[in-house]
Amino acid sequence: MYSLISFVVVLVLSALPGRSFWIITHSPLVSQRLDPILAPNGTSSHTHAFVGSAAILSSQDKNALCTTSGVKADKSNYWAPQLYYYHAKNSTFSSVPLSYVNTYYLNRGGPKMGANGKLTAFPKGLKMIAGNNTAMDSPDPDPTKALAVSYVCLNYKDGSNTTKTLPTGPCPQGLRTQIVFPSCWNGKDLDSADHQSHMSYPIDGVADSGDCPTSHPVKLMTLFYEFVYATGNLKRSSSGKSRFVLANGDAVGYAMHADFVSAWDVTVLQKAVDQCTGNLFGDLKSCPPFVPTLNTTSSCKTKESVKEKVLGSLKSLPGCVPIKNGPSKGAIAKNCTVPTLSVVAQQGGPDDATFPNRRNVLEEHVPHAQRRLDLAESAVRRSRHREIAAAVL
Ligand SMILES: *[C@@H]1O[C@H](CO)[C@@H](O)[C@H](O)[C@H]1NC(C)=O
Ligand SMILES: *[C@@H]1O[C@H](CO)[C@@H](O)[C@H](O)[C@H]1NC(C)=O
Ligand SMILES: *[C@@H]1O[C@H](CO)[C@@H](O)[C@H](O)[C@H]1NC(C)=O
Ligand SMILES: *[C@@H]1O[C@H](CO)[C@@H](O)[C@H](O)[C@H]1NC(C)=O
Ligand SMILES: *[C@@H]1O[C@H](CO)[C@@H](O)[C@H](O)[C@H]1NC(C)=O
Ligand SMILES: *[C@@H]1O[C@H](CO)[C@@H](O)[C@H](O)[C@H]1NC(C)=O
Repeated sequence: MYSLISFVVVLVLSALPGRSFWIITHSPLVSQRLDPILAPNGTSSHTHAFVGSAAILSSQDKNALCTTSGVKADKSNYWAPQLYYYHAKNSTFSSVPLSYVNTYYLNRGGPKMGANGKLTAFPKGLKMIAGNNTAMDSPDPDPTKALAVSYVCLNYKDGSNTTKTLPTGPCPQGLRTQIVFPSCWNGKDLDSADHQSHMSYPIDGVADSGDCPTSHPVKLMTLFYEFVYATGNLKRSSSGKSRFVLANGDAVGYAMHADFVSAWDVTVLQKAVDQCTGNLFGDLKSCPPFVPTLNTTSSCKTKESVKEKVLGSLKSLPGCVPIKNGPSKGAIAKNCTVPTLSVVAQQGGPDDATFPNRRNVLEEHVPHAQRRLDLAESAVRRSRHREIAAAVL
């Protein structure tokens, strides 16, 4: 309950007028044992689900390939650990299908910035990691970093709870993993040795808004991811040691993390930051700098660049990652060996590829975003019925 309240309070405090806020909704792109920040040229230790540019390897030209972003000026990569389910009864894992991803661009300065505080667009090539991949048994010791990670078990009938740890379900309408990125930049480094120290969370202790520390004085937009997994049809055990587990072996949930490599057209992004105020939700057409670059009808697919089965029913987590915590700690398939795999450049569709059957996810998920803000702004009179009424995903 604490986390639900604090999360709602954060949104309420931050929902100040005159500040831009938009959401880009992505269809899933690919799940692969890749990590262009931590393993730029090879396979990574665990599987990530990717959206954004089909050019994932750091050596690839992002302008040559398509993106799942409806804004073509956004060729960024967005990724987070793939979600699995561990069946304790037969010691197997099932991947949980990714439904869609929302990437929120939030304009949230602190009191010193004023309502029209200057925000800087993400510089081209900026790399960011949010979260702590090693926080297995307890949250990150930094309370702001710990606040940045949360889960929502979507259950329109009985109420959707927000938690700091992975829910045990059932989550009939989906399981939403949520993570807030740091928004204060040191103004010079696109990356750092630990991939984190060139960035900082704001000083006010509420991860997603506030003023920046003097060490990291440049305020960027606050990036917030929701990876929504389709848990509704999952065959799950109601009790026992069966659990949701992140690809990194975390069956508790504190080690959720996410990554971003910015490849925006910086001019377009800066104009949008400067000119588009108010809450656009998914209505990107109302932001003039986006209009020439919108494409909600094109889709984007890519072929795997690593030949490895990472989805479906599996004997072990890809990469032979053992379960690292929770009641099934240590679970791993017998004789699991990590294959040596070659990594080849993806062959995504060209930038202008169209797939006529693509659902218009941008439009489709606006009610979802609206519901979230409604929920935040009516924290005191929060009504279950209203959430059900608005649940038209
Ligand atoms: C990855 O490959 C690129 C281009 O081949 C090279 O410049 C870079 O040093 C490599 N990085 C690592 C960590 O091996
Ligand atoms: C393991 O159990 C789950 C849940 O009952 C089932 O869906 C899955 O097919 C089983 N896997 C195998 C390989 O038997
Ligand atoms: C990650 O969290 C663990 C505790 O769960 C902590 O010991 C470790 O220092 C954290 N790592 C970083 C880089 O903050
Ligand atoms: C949500 O949390 C409340 C309070 O902890 C609990 O009573 C309720 O059963 C939970 N709802 C669901 C659907 O899990
Ligand atoms: C694991 O390897 C051992 C020794 O090579 C072998 O005896 C055993 O049958 C293997 N088990 C499985 C499940 O493959
Ligand atoms: C979207 O892409 C298709 C195919 O390239 C193109 O025909 C269409 O005009 C584009 N729409 C916009 C708004 O750019």
